[in-house]
Amino acid sequence: MRKVVATKGFSAPLKGETIVPPDKSVSHRSLIIGSLTRGKIKISNFLKSADCLATLDILKALGCEIEFLNENTLFLNAQNAYKEPVSDLYCGNSGTTMRLMTGLLSAQNIKCRLTGDVSLSKRPMKRIIEPLSAMGARIKSNEGKAPLTIEQAKLNGIEYISPIASAQVKSALLLAGAQTRESATTVLEPHLSRDHSERMLKFFGSNIKIFRKDNLFGSTISYTPLIPKDLTVTGDISSAAFLLVAAATIKNSDLILKGIGLNPTRTGIIDVLKAMNADIEILSRNEISGEEIGDIRIKYSPDLKGIKIEGEIIPRLIDEIPIIALLATQAEGKTVIKNASDLKNKESDRIASVARELKKFGAKIEPTDDGFIIDGKNGGNGLLEGNCEVDCYHDHRIAMMGYIAGLISKKPCRINDFEWVETSFPNFLKTFENLQS
Ligand code: S3P
Repeated sequence: MRKVVATKGFSAPLKGETIVPPDKSVSHRSLIIGSLTRGKIKISNFLKSADCLATLDILKALGCEIEFLNENTLFLNAQNAYKEPVSDLYCGNSGTTMRLMTGLLSAQNIKCRLTGDVSLSKRPMKRIIEPLSAMGARIKSNEGKAPLTIEQAKLNGIEYISPIASAQVKSALLLAGAQTRESATTVLEPHLSRDHSERMLKFFGSNIKIFRKDNLFGSTISYTPLIPKDLTVTGDISSAAFLLVAAATIKNSDLILKGIGLNPTRTGIIDVLKAMNADIEILSRNEISGEEIGDIRIKYSPDLKGIKIEGEIIPRLIDEIPIIALLATQAEGKTVIKNASDLKNKESDRIASVARELKKFGAKIEPTDDGFIIDGKNGGNGLLEGNCEVDCYHDHRIAMMGYIAGLISKKPCRINDFEWVETSFPNFLKTFENLQS
């Protein structure tokens, strides 16, 4: 059902403590890699959002038994995985589901077809089809896009140098490589993309080695039976990013976010907030199921300044760029974001959609071929005008960016199709309501 949300402008401060939703990337992997153990595991703090439920339904169709004990805890029994599904495997809006499942299923002796929604059916799949085919996989596509039909094949290991730092590409190959018995698979990438798959494979006892070779980041995997183990998912720093930016830009805010995943391949947003002069502090650090976790405090930050964001940090904050673009509108001076052309391949073309939607608020933002140039404070006192209607193009992060822009605007705004927020942050509005009451 289509949902429209309104903001009134001049928002109340965010105060107090909150947890954020469980990490989307880690939740997908807990089911997918968990199923590779072919055993029984308990997964705690699983993200019950639209994207992760797509992965869950697919694993059920492949013979896994999954039972929820409560809202965020589930039992996975993968002893009967993977049987040939009787119908298409629907990945919904989720690129992670489609790319990782393709890697996993390429090495199974079954035939199946992966489909997606309108947005996912436009996204590039050649980036996984080509290297998986080089391993021997038999994948048919619609000119490099979904639907993807996978047929029975025997895989061999390869060494693959990925032209892009993509965790989905890397993970698809590692998942295929983890099941290839005769030879090892090595994946190299130009910058280190999120390494949740490597960490989780190691957590379950995989024979995976991480290394650096010249200027490349690599991992080599070979077949080892994985050992079932219970696992807890960390809080999602990509969801936390919306609260961090809201608190940094709404007067008198003072917020503590608890249990946030602090995997260094994901913490680019914290580095950017610090470099822009935000009042942010990491209060504690711990480890859980092979991932770093901690609490963060952030306060209203009136002296934000524009910075340059480019190079190795891009994969460490790729999903946060829409909200960082909004943050930059509140900073003194120019912010330049470069080397992020893969934004065009996300749930929407985020270079176009971010610029188009923020301009509606009166922001001074210009899209470039690989990022943005943002003139902070809008050449004036920084407040956005608002008085607009946001479209979100099937993209949860555009919907949430639009909502925060509405909070820091002078006039009311409407955000259309807000139901897309369910993709990654099911209690988004409730979380904000609780912190503003
Ligand atoms: C993800 C990897 C990133 C990210 C996406 C989730 C993952 O995509 O943008 O939201 O879970 O592996 P790419 O691998 O395409 O960079």
